[in-house]
Amino acid sequence: MFGMSKKIAILGASRGFGRALSLEAAGASKSELLLVSRKQELLTSLKLDVENLGSRASVLCSDFNVKVDQEEVLRVLSDFKPDKVIYCAGGGPHGPYASKKWEDHQWAYNVTFIFAARVLHFCLKNQSFVKQFVAIGSSVCEQSADINAASYSAAKHALLGLHKTVSIEEPTFDFRLFSPSYMDTDMLPPSAPVRLEKKVSSPKAVAMELLYWLEQPGYKNAHMPLSDI
Ligand SMILES: NC(=O)c1ccc[n+]([C@@H]2O[C@H](COP(=O)([O-])OP(=O)(O)OC[C@H]3O[C@@H](n4cnc5c(N)ncnc54)[C@H](OP(=O)(O)O)[C@@H]3O)[C@@H](O)[C@H]2O)c1
Repeated sequence: MFGMSKKIAILGASRGFGRALSLEAAGASKSELLLVSRKQELLTSLKLDVENLGSRASVLCSDFNVKVDQEEVLRVLSDFKPDKVIYCAGGGPHGPYASKKWEDHQWAYNVTFIFAARVLHFCLKNQSFVKQFVAIGSSVCEQSADINAASYSAAKHALLGLHKTVSIEEPTFDFRLFSPSYMDTDMLPPSAPVRLEKKVSSPKAVAMELLYWLEQPGYKNAHMPLSDI
C-alpha cells in the first residue's frame, strides 16, 4: 500500500503552471496525483517525472471544452476521491472581440470558467472527501480590462465573482482563488512586451508560492492576487 498523505487532482496539468505545480507537489511530499488535460504524450512524460520524485500519478486525457469529456472527468474524480482539486486550465483567443470566431470565445468561457465552476459544484457536493478547491485566476485581468483578450478576461472576472459569493455561502469548505501575474509559459507569446520588461515569473516559483499558501489555515476561503515581480 502506498502510505500517502495527499490525493490531489490537477486539471490542466500537462504544460506551463499546471506542470510546474504537479512537479512541486510531487516533490514536496509523497502524494497521489490525478493529472488531467488534453495531450497524452505530455501527460505520460509528466507521470514519469512525478514517479521519479517518489509520488504516484494517474493520467486522464480530457478536453474541457467537450461535454462528454467533462462528464468523464467528474466520474473519474468520484472514483479517485481527491482531498484537494486544483483547476489550472485557462486561455482564450487574442485579438479584438469581433474579429474572433464565436467558437473561440465559447472555448475561452468553457475552459477558463464554465468547467471550473462545474468542478467547484462537484467539490461542494462531495465534501466527504474533497476538502479544498483551488481556482487559478489572473491578477492581470480579473479586475480590469485586458485589451485583445475580452473573453479570457471576462471568464477570469466570472471566477472572481463566483469566489466572492461561494466563499461566504460555504464557510466550512475551503475554496481559494490564487491569481498569478505574468508567468513564463506557452500562454504568454514570445514577443509579449512584459517579457522585455522582465516582469515574468517562473511557473516553478509561483507553484512553490501556491503550495506554501495552501498549507496556511488562516487563508481558508481567501483570494490571493500576486503582484508583478
Ligand atoms: N501565463 C501567464 O502569464 C498567466 C498569468 C496569469 C494567470 N495565468 C493562469 O494560470 C493558469 C495556467 O496558465 P499557463 O500559463 O500555464 O497556460 P498554458 O501554458 O497555456 O497551459 C494551459 C494548461 O491547460 C491545459 N488545457 C488547455 N486547454 C485545455 C482543454 N480544452 N482541456 C483540458 N486542458 C486544457 C493545457 O494542457 P493540454 O494542452 O494538454 O490540454 C495546459 O496544461 C491559467 O488559468 C491561466 O489563465 C497565466
